[in-house]
Amino acid sequence: MQGIVRVAPSILSADFANLGAEIRAIEAAGADYVHVDVMDGHFVPNLTIGPMVVKAIRPHTSLVMDVHLMISPADPYLDAFAEAGADILTVHPEAGPHIHRSVQRIKALGKKAGVSLNPGTPAKMLDYLIDDIDLVLVMSVNPGFGGQSFITSQLKKIEAIRKMIDKTGRAIDLEVDGGIDAVTAKAAIAAGADVLVAGTASFKGGAAHYAANIAALRG
Ligand code: DX5
Ligand code: ZN
Repeated sequence: MQGIVRVAPSILSADFANLGAEIRAIEAAGADYVHVDVMDGHFVPNLTIGPMVVKAIRPHTSLVMDVHLMISPADPYLDAFAEAGADILTVHPEAGPHIHRSVQRIKALGKKAGVSLNPGTPAKMLDYLIDDIDLVLVMSVNPGFGGQSFITSQLKKIEAIRKMIDKTGRAIDLEVDGGIDAVTAKAAIAAGADVLVAGTASFKGGAAHYAANIAALRG
């Protein structure tokens, strides 16, 4: 069943020189998860942050730390991100040959396991994973950068995955990531998403606007 809508600001759009303060501000503004975009300049054409930064920001929030790994390979880094304080670790099947192994490792580390699908990857990829995972992340842009436009074809995929999740009878987050604003958030929620990742839309205008920005996404 679709859960209550939660908002996960992506710190990719935060002020990196003031990350601690930015995270405290989005928590005060009503964020549910802190979404951390980890990029390696190989799986995606951008470089961001590693486990040291996750460890540094961990004491600044009690929110769920939702770590999105856009790295290939991911397996050698799962332990480090878990130790750094991630609560959810999400991996891409396109990033390596052993997604099932990655999911099992994340669970063995005592963390929630997420699987993320690029816009060109079919929902079918989840057939033999869905019973083991805690979160599905549908990329509504090609991963690598904030500020891109929402790819509307992904709404159909969200609808299909919503059905798949409901069939399991388990509580699995259905998260959508990329190009989320007040309008696309509505469409994603209508399609069955219940966690909205938003970078640009959460952080626009500075801290005084964060509460209104986040509220606008809940619809
Ligand atoms: C893209 C990242 C997203 C992105 C979202 O690779 O996974 O989390 O930062 O940014 P906006 O909300 O600006 O599209
Ligand atoms: Zn992300």
